[in-house]
Amino acid sequence: DVMGQLFGMQQNERQLADNFGIDRCLIVSGDSDQQQKVIEEFGNLLDEALHSCLPDGQNIIAIMGGTTIANAAKQLTNLKSTKRQNLFVPARGGIGETVNLQANSVSAEMAARSNGTYRTLFVPEQLSAVTYDSLLKEPAIVEVLNLINQANCVVHSIGRALHMAARRKMSEEDILMLKQKNAVAESFGYFFDEDGKVVYKIPRVGLQLKDVRNIPYIFAVAGGKSKAKAIQAYMKNAPQQTWLITDEAAANEILRGV
Ligand code: G3H
Repeated sequence: DVMGQLFGMQQNERQLADNFGIDRCLIVSGDSDQQQKVIEEFGNLLDEALHSCLPDGQNIIAIMGGTTIANAAKQLTNLKSTKRQNLFVPARGGIGETVNLQANSVSAEMAARSNGTYRTLFVPEQLSAVTYDSLLKEPAIVEVLNLINQANCVVHSIGRALHMAARRKMSEEDILMLKQKNAVAESFGYFFDEDGKVVYKIPRVGLQLKDVRNIPYIFAVAGGKSKAKAIQAYMKNAPQQTWLITDEAAANEILRGV
Protein backbone atom coordinates (compact mmCIF):
# COMPACT_ATOMS: atom_id res chain seq x y z
CA ASP A 1 0.00 0.00 0.00
CA VAL A 2 0.98 3.61 -0.60
CA MET A 3 1.24 4.47 3.10
CA GLY A 4 3.47 1.46 3.67
CA GLN A 5 5.83 2.59 0.93
CA LEU A 6 5.82 6.15 2.13
CA PHE A 7 6.42 5.51 5.79
CA GLY A 8 8.04 2.06 5.49
CA MET A 9 7.30 0.13 8.70
CA GLN A 10 10.16 -0.78 10.93
CA GLN A 11 9.88 -3.79 13.13
CA ASN A 12 9.56 -1.82 16.37
CA GLU A 13 6.87 0.36 14.79
CA ARG A 14 4.85 -2.71 13.86
CA GLN A 15 5.39 -4.24 17.28
CA LEU A 16 4.20 -1.12 19.07
CA ALA A 17 1.18 -0.71 16.78
CA ASP A 18 0.22 -4.38 17.30
CA ASN A 19 0.67 -4.02 21.03
CA PHE A 20 -1.75 -1.09 21.16
CA GLY A 21 -4.11 -2.50 18.53
CA ILE A 22 -3.80 0.61 16.39
CA ASP A 23 -3.21 1.15 12.69
CA ARG A 24 0.22 2.72 12.78
CA CYS A 25 3.12 3.91 14.89
CA LEU A 26 5.88 6.17 13.64
CA ILE A 27 9.01 6.20 15.78
CA VAL A 28 11.58 9.01 15.63
CA SER A 29 15.15 8.31 16.80
CA GLY A 30 16.15 9.93 20.09
CA ASP A 31 14.37 11.25 23.17
CA SER A 32 12.13 14.29 22.97
CA ASP A 33 12.71 14.90 26.71
CA GLN A 34 16.31 15.75 25.83
CA GLN A 35 16.29 16.89 22.20
CA GLN A 36 14.11 19.61 20.70
CA LYS A 37 15.00 18.25 17.24
CA VAL A 38 12.94 15.16 17.96
CA ILE A 39 9.83 17.30 18.37
CA GLU A 40 10.60 19.01 15.06
CA GLU A 41 10.75 15.57 13.51
CA PHE A 42 7.33 14.77 15.07
CA GLY A 43 6.11 17.87 13.26
CA ASN A 44 7.56 16.73 9.93
CA LEU A 45 5.96 13.30 10.26
CA LEU A 46 2.66 14.83 11.30
CA ASP A 47 2.82 17.09 8.26
CA GLU A 48 3.48 14.16 5.91
CA ALA A 49 0.86 12.00 7.57
CA LEU A 50 -1.82 14.70 7.34
CA HIS A 51 -0.86 15.42 3.76
CA SER A 52 -1.08 11.78 2.68
CA CYS A 53 -4.19 10.85 4.68
CA LEU A 54 -6.56 13.81 4.44
CA PRO A 55 -8.92 13.71 1.48
CA ASP A 56 -9.42 16.49 -1.06
CA GLY A 57 -12.21 18.93 -0.30
CA GLN A 58 -13.18 20.28 3.10
CA ASN A 59 -11.38 18.99 6.16
CA ILE A 60 -12.15 20.06 9.70
CA ILE A 61 -9.17 19.38 11.91
CA ALA A 62 -9.68 19.53 15.67
CA ILE A 63 -6.54 20.45 17.58
CA MET A 64 -5.52 20.03 21.20
CA GLY A 65 -2.85 22.29 22.71
CA GLY A 66 0.27 21.67 24.79
CA THR A 67 3.99 22.07 24.12
CA THR A 68 4.29 19.05 21.80
CA ILE A 69 1.56 20.03 19.37
CA ALA A 70 2.46 23.74 19.59
CA ASN A 71 6.04 22.95 18.52
CA ALA A 72 5.10 20.29 15.98
CA ALA A 73 2.72 22.82 14.39
CA LYS A 74 5.69 24.95 13.34
CA GLN A 75 6.80 22.25 10.89
CA LEU A 76 3.65 22.15 8.78
CA THR A 77 4.50 22.97 5.17
CA ASN A 78 2.95 20.30 2.98
CA LEU A 79 -0.72 20.95 3.50
CA LYS A 80 -1.04 23.83 1.07
CA SER A 81 -2.79 21.73 -1.59
CA THR A 82 -5.30 23.76 -3.53
CA LYS A 83 -7.61 20.76 -3.72
CA ARG A 84 -8.00 20.67 0.02
CA GLN A 85 -9.57 23.20 2.36
CA ASN A 86 -8.32 22.91 5.92
CA LEU A 87 -10.34 24.42 8.73
CA PHE A 88 -8.66 24.17 12.14
CA VAL A 89 -10.72 24.28 15.30
CA PRO A 90 -9.77 23.84 18.96
CA ALA A 91 -11.04 20.45 20.11
CA ARG A 92 -12.12 21.58 23.58
CA GLY A 93 -12.51 24.96 25.23
CA GLY A 94 -10.86 26.27 28.37
CA ILE A 95 -9.02 23.39 29.97
CA GLY A 96 -6.39 25.71 31.37
CA GLU A 97 -3.10 26.38 29.56
CA THR A 98 -1.05 29.51 28.98
CA VAL A 99 -2.06 31.35 25.81
CA ASN A 100 0.69 30.14 23.45
CA LEU A 101 -0.05 26.51 24.33
CA GLN A 102 -3.81 26.78 23.95
CA ALA A 103 -5.63 24.89 21.24
CA ASN A 104 -6.90 28.25 19.91
CA SER A 105 -3.36 29.49 19.30
CA VAL A 106 -2.14 26.22 17.81
CA SER A 107 -5.13 26.12 15.42
CA ALA A 108 -4.25 29.62 14.22
CA GLU A 109 -0.60 28.64 13.74
CA MET A 110 -1.49 25.52 11.76
CA ALA A 111 -3.93 27.44 9.59
CA ALA A 112 -1.30 30.07 8.81
CA ARG A 113 1.18 27.39 7.75
CA SER A 114 -1.23 25.45 5.57
CA ASN A 115 -3.22 28.17 3.78
CA GLY A 116 -6.09 27.14 5.96
CA THR A 117 -8.62 28.91 8.11
CA TYR A 118 -9.37 28.62 11.81
CA ARG A 119 -11.98 29.37 14.41
CA THR A 120 -11.50 30.12 18.05
CA LEU A 121 -13.50 28.99 21.03
CA PHE A 122 -13.19 31.33 23.96
CA VAL A 123 -14.61 29.84 27.08
CA PRO A 124 -13.17 31.50 30.19
CA GLU A 125 -11.93 29.27 32.99
CA GLN A 126 -13.74 30.46 36.07
CA LEU A 127 -17.44 30.76 35.33
CA SER A 128 -20.54 30.17 37.38
CA ALA A 129 -22.77 27.38 36.09
CA VAL A 130 -25.40 29.96 35.11
CA THR A 131 -23.00 32.08 33.06
CA TYR A 132 -21.53 28.97 31.48
CA ASP A 133 -24.93 27.70 30.39
CA SER A 134 -25.93 31.01 28.87
CA LEU A 135 -22.56 31.33 27.12
CA LEU A 136 -23.21 27.99 25.47
CA LYS A 137 -26.33 29.47 23.89
CA GLU A 138 -24.37 32.25 22.18
CA PRO A 139 -24.65 31.82 18.38
CA ALA A 140 -20.90 32.37 17.83
CA ILE A 141 -20.07 29.61 20.30
CA VAL A 142 -22.77 27.29 18.99
CA GLU A 143 -21.33 27.71 15.50
CA VAL A 144 -17.84 26.64 16.55
CA LEU A 145 -19.20 23.74 18.61
CA ASN A 146 -21.10 22.55 15.54
CA LEU A 147 -17.91 22.66 13.49
CA ILE A 148 -16.06 20.69 16.16
CA ASN A 149 -18.79 18.06 15.97
CA GLN A 150 -18.14 17.72 12.24
CA ALA A 151 -14.37 17.28 12.55
CA ASN A 152 -12.93 14.48 10.38
CA CYS A 153 -9.47 14.68 11.93
CA VAL A 154 -8.05 15.25 15.39
CA VAL A 155 -4.48 15.97 16.46
CA HIS A 156 -3.59 15.62 20.13
CA SER A 157 -0.80 14.83 22.54
CA ILE A 158 -0.76 12.75 25.70
CA GLY A 159 0.52 14.08 29.01
CA ARG A 160 1.42 12.76 32.46
CA ALA A 161 -1.61 13.12 34.71
CA LEU A 162 -0.18 14.88 37.74
CA HIS A 163 2.17 17.04 35.70
CA MET A 164 -0.77 18.25 33.60
CA ALA A 165 -2.94 18.80 36.66
CA ALA A 166 -0.24 20.98 38.25
CA ARG A 167 0.49 22.87 35.01
CA ARG A 168 -3.18 23.62 34.55
CA LYS A 169 -3.44 24.75 38.16
CA MET A 170 -6.09 22.29 39.24
CA SER A 171 -7.01 22.50 42.93
CA GLU A 172 -5.16 20.56 45.66
CA GLU A 173 -8.37 18.69 46.23
CA ASP A 174 -8.60 17.57 42.59
CA ILE A 175 -4.93 16.60 42.53
CA LEU A 176 -5.45 14.45 45.62
CA MET A 177 -8.47 12.85 43.94
CA LEU A 178 -6.36 12.09 40.83
CA LYS A 179 -3.70 10.48 43.04
CA GLN A 180 -6.28 8.38 44.82
CA LYS A 181 -7.66 7.20 41.50
CA ASN A 182 -4.15 6.37 40.25
CA ALA A 183 -4.39 8.68 37.25
CA VAL A 184 -1.27 8.37 35.08
CA ALA A 185 -2.24 9.91 31.75
CA GLU A 186 -4.14 12.94 30.44
CA SER A 187 -5.46 13.75 27.00
CA PHE A 188 -8.38 15.90 25.78
CA GLY A 189 -8.94 17.00 29.39
CA TYR A 190 -9.63 13.40 30.39
CA PHE A 191 -7.54 11.55 32.97
CA PHE A 192 -6.76 7.82 32.66
CA ASP A 193 -5.43 5.16 35.01
CA GLU A 194 -2.85 2.65 33.83
CA ASP A 195 -5.51 0.39 32.36
CA GLY A 196 -6.60 3.27 30.15
CA LYS A 197 -9.83 3.74 32.08
CA VAL A 198 -11.17 7.30 32.42
CA VAL A 199 -11.02 8.31 36.08
CA TYR A 200 -11.84 12.01 35.72
CA LYS A 201 -12.93 14.47 33.08
CA ILE A 202 -12.61 18.26 33.14
CA PRO A 203 -16.17 19.42 32.52
CA ARG A 204 -15.75 21.52 29.38
CA VAL A 205 -17.45 21.85 26.00
CA GLY A 206 -16.17 20.57 22.69
CA LEU A 207 -15.03 17.16 21.57
CA GLN A 208 -15.91 14.39 24.02
CA LEU A 209 -13.98 11.14 24.14
CA LYS A 210 -16.89 9.09 22.81
CA ASP A 211 -17.01 11.36 19.72
CA VAL A 212 -13.32 10.85 19.04
CA ARG A 213 -14.01 7.17 18.29
CA ASN A 214 -16.01 8.17 15.22
CA ILE A 215 -13.38 10.46 13.74
CA PRO A 216 -11.61 8.83 10.77
CA TYR A 217 -8.17 10.44 11.14
CA ILE A 218 -6.59 10.61 14.57
CA PHE A 219 -2.98 11.58 15.22
CA ALA A 220 -1.53 11.23 18.71
CA VAL A 221 1.87 12.86 19.08
CA ALA A 222 3.81 12.16 22.28
CA GLY A 223 7.28 10.98 23.18
CA GLY A 224 10.05 11.10 25.76
CA LYS A 225 11.07 8.47 28.27
CA SER A 226 9.18 10.38 30.97
CA LYS A 227 5.90 9.94 29.09
CA ALA A 228 6.22 6.18 28.43
CA LYS A 229 3.76 5.20 31.15
CA ALA A 230 1.26 7.87 30.16
CA ILE A 231 1.42 6.93 26.49
CA GLN A 232 0.99 3.26 27.29
CA ALA A 233 -2.00 3.96 29.55
CA TYR A 234 -3.83 6.18 27.07
CA MET A 235 -3.08 3.94 24.09
CA LYS A 236 -4.63 0.88 25.76
CA ASN A 237 -8.10 2.08 24.81
CA ALA A 238 -7.24 4.43 21.97
CA PRO A 239 -9.39 4.15 18.83
CA GLN A 240 -7.92 1.69 16.33
CA GLN A 241 -7.59 4.31 13.61
CA THR A 242 -5.13 6.31 15.75
CA TRP A 243 -1.64 6.89 14.37
CA LEU A 244 0.87 7.33 17.18
CA ILE A 245 3.88 9.50 16.44
CA THR A 246 6.45 8.89 19.16
CA ASP A 247 10.18 8.50 19.78
CA GLU A 248 12.62 5.69 20.47
CA ALA A 249 12.99 6.59 24.14
CA ALA A 250 9.26 6.11 24.84
CA ALA A 251 8.92 3.14 22.46
CA ASN A 252 11.85 1.22 23.97
CA GLU A 253 10.62 1.83 27.48
CA ILE A 254 7.14 0.54 26.54
CA LEU A 255 8.39 -2.46 24.53
CA ARG A 256 10.74 -3.43 27.35
CA GLY A 257 7.72 -4.08 29.54
CA VAL A 258 5.58 -6.10 27.11
O1 G3H B 1 -2.98 16.47 26.87
C1 G3H B 1 -1.77 16.40 26.87
C2 G3H B 1 -0.98 17.59 26.98
O2 G3H B 1 -1.51 18.58 26.19
C3 G3H B 1 0.45 17.32 26.67
O3 G3H B 1 1.16 18.49 26.86
O4 G3H B 1 2.68 18.41 24.95
O5 G3H B 1 3.07 19.95 26.85
O6 G3H B 1 3.40 17.50 27.13
P1 G3H B 1 2.66 18.59 26.43
